[in-house]
Amino acid sequence: MRAAVLGTGSCLPEKVLTNTDLEKLVETSDEWITTRTGIRTRRIAGPGEENYKLASTAARRALEMAKVTPEELDLVVVATLTPHMMMPSSACFVQAEIGAVNAFAYDLNAACSGFLYGLDLVDSYIARRPDMKILLIGSETLSARVNWEDRNTCILFGDGAGACVITGREQGGVVASRLLSDGRLWKLLYMDSPESRNSAIRQPDRKGCYIQMSGRDVFKYAVRAMEDAVTGLLLETGTSIDQVDLMIPHQANIRILGKLMERLGVPDEKLYINVDKYGNTSAASIPIALDEANRQGILSRGQRILLCSFGGGFTWGALLMDW
Ligand code: ACO
Repeated sequence: MRAAVLGTGSCLPEKVLTNTDLEKLVETSDEWITTRTGIRTRRIAGPGEENYKLASTAARRALEMAKVTPEELDLVVVATLTPHMMMPSSACFVQAEIGAVNAFAYDLNAACSGFLYGLDLVDSYIARRPDMKILLIGSETLSARVNWEDRNTCILFGDGAGACVITGREQGGVVASRLLSDGRLWKLLYMDSPESRNSAIRQPDRKGCYIQMSGRDVFKYAVRAMEDAVTGLLLETGTSIDQVDLMIPHQANIRILGKLMERLGVPDEKLYINVDKYGNTSAASIPIALDEANRQGILSRGQRILLCSFGGGFTWGALLMDW
C-alpha cells in the first residue's frame, strides 16, 4: 500500500500585493520583477490569517473533499519554516483549531522542500499502517520574515497554505521519491533568529530575522539539483518523461522553471505554474498548486504526476505519484 491523496484544499490571504505596490517600497519596477521572476502578484497575510489559521482553512477544505472528519485523523503534519510559534508546533495549533482530537501532530522544516519531504515521510507511515488518515499541510507566512527594504528578496515571496488528506491505497499513490540535502551550502540561503548563537551570521545591529539569499548561486544550484533529482528518479523507476502527465514543481520563479523544463524536455502543456499569482510560498507552493490543478480538473485519477523542489539547507528532491 502506498500513500494516496483523498482530498486537497488551499487558502490564500485576502490581500494582494502587486509589483506596482512594491515600486513604492523599494527601488524596483514591474518590468524588472516580471522579466526576472515571472511574479506579478503575491498574497500577504493580515490579522486573523496567521500560519495555523491559513493551514486550518486549507485543511477543512481538504477534509470536506476527502469526506473525512477531523476526529478520524491519526496524524497532522505541517511543513513550514515560518511557524506560528517556536513551540508548540503549528500542527498542534491546527489540531486544536479543527478538532483533530485523536491525532498526534508535529511540524517539519525542510524549507521549500518541506511538503515533498512530508509526502515521503507520510508514505512510510502508510507502509506500516495503511489505514492511517493523515493530514499533510504546507503553510507559510513568509511576509513576516522578509526584509521589506531589501529588493533582492522582498519581491519573491508570498503567504498561503495547501493541504492534502492522505491514506493507503492498493493502486496508485506515491511511486518513488529521491530526496537530497547539502548542509555545507547553508549560507547561500538562510534565515536566522535574533537569539541565534551562530557566530558566522550574528550581527549586533540586526533588525530582524529575515531571509538572506545569494540569488545567483541559488538559481544555479536550484536548476542543477532539481534536474539531477528528476533524472535520477526517472532512471531508477524506468519512467520516461513522456509517461509523466503533469509536472508540479515548487513555484520559485519562472526562469528557474523555464531552464529546468528545457533541460528535462518537458513541454509547456505538462507544466503547472501559478508563481505569477502567488510568488514563492515555500513549503506551501506544491500543495496550493496541487489543489488548484485538482479543482480545475487538470488533475484526474490515474494520472502520473512528477513533483520536484529545491530550498534552503540546501534541500531538494523529486517524487513520482499516481493520482
Ligand atoms: N529590482 C531592480 N533591480 C534589482 C532588484 C529588484 N527587485 N533586485 C536586484 N536588483 C539589481 C541588483 O542590485 C543588481 O544591480 P547591480 O548590477 O547594479 O549590482 C542587478 O539587479 C542584477 O542583480 P542579480 O542578483 O545579479 O540579478 P539576477 O539576474 O540574478 O536576478 C534573482 C535576481 C531574480 C533573485 C535571481 O538571481 C533568482 O531568481 N534567483 C533565485 C532565487 C530564488 O528563487 N530564491 C527563492 C528561494 S530558493 C527556491 O525557492 C528555489
